[in-house]
Amino acid sequence: MPIQVKICDIPDDVARAAASKIAALIRQKPDAVLGLATGSTPVRTYAELVQMNREGLSFSRLTTFNLDEYWGLDGGHPQSYRYFMNHTFFDGTDIQLWNTHVPNGMAVDADLECRAFETGIRACGGVDLWLLGIGRNGHIAFNEPGCAPDSRTRLVDLTESTIAANSRFFERVEDVPKQALTAGIATICDARRILLLATGKDKARAIARAVQGVPHPSCPASFLQTHSDCTFILDREAASVVSD
Ligand code: GLP
Repeated sequence: MPIQVKICDIPDDVARAAASKIAALIRQKPDAVLGLATGSTPVRTYAELVQMNREGLSFSRLTTFNLDEYWGLDGGHPQSYRYFMNHTFFDGTDIQLWNTHVPNGMAVDADLECRAFETGIRACGGVDLWLLGIGRNGHIAFNEPGCAPDSRTRLVDLTESTIAANSRFFERVEDVPKQALTAGIATICDARRILLLATGKDKARAIARAVQGVPHPSCPASFLQTHSDCTFILDREAASVVSD
């Protein structure tokens, strides 16, 4: 199934389009299960959703699962993805924090934590919509180039390029964790719908490969072509290498 591509003029339009799709799902299914992402791209989408929540759209019955977490970071660490989600989204809404699930980067046993994460998704009936970003090298969550399409939640090593890209959020590049827990490609593709957001020219090559390249481990996002309901919402810059 080809990936559906929606091109917006500017990043704010991407956020508005994404938030309105998520809001439509919540109106139709107030107890929806959402898959969520971190990174700078979805920040504006979360701001839109916080505003909708203030204006009356209740999130109190939602359940959420986040894609990934740095291995070795506690949820109270300002660069952890749990901290990011609480501060960027959850704390500004009526979402029940105990219904939000971010892999625990301090778990004693990574394998057990990953299995519990997968079981949790199944126990909630599966993810209705998974919101994704994309890395410059085509990674989704922390599924780096070389990953398998049947991969599940696991502990992975981060590539040098991802460590370098994410070092902008840390004081020093040495502070960026070298490993992470991440949902796998198969975990993500089990979701009933997938919505990937990308903005800026840094993402243009990865987007073109994901949408128009042959599905291949060298660009993990290209595996999304195997999903039957996957939409990319892009700004003009991120869409600039996609050909008609
Ligand atoms: C990290 C996250 C990904 C995210 C990517 C891009 O590596 N694990 O889920 O898609 O960053 O982030 P940004 O949106 O800041 O470009």
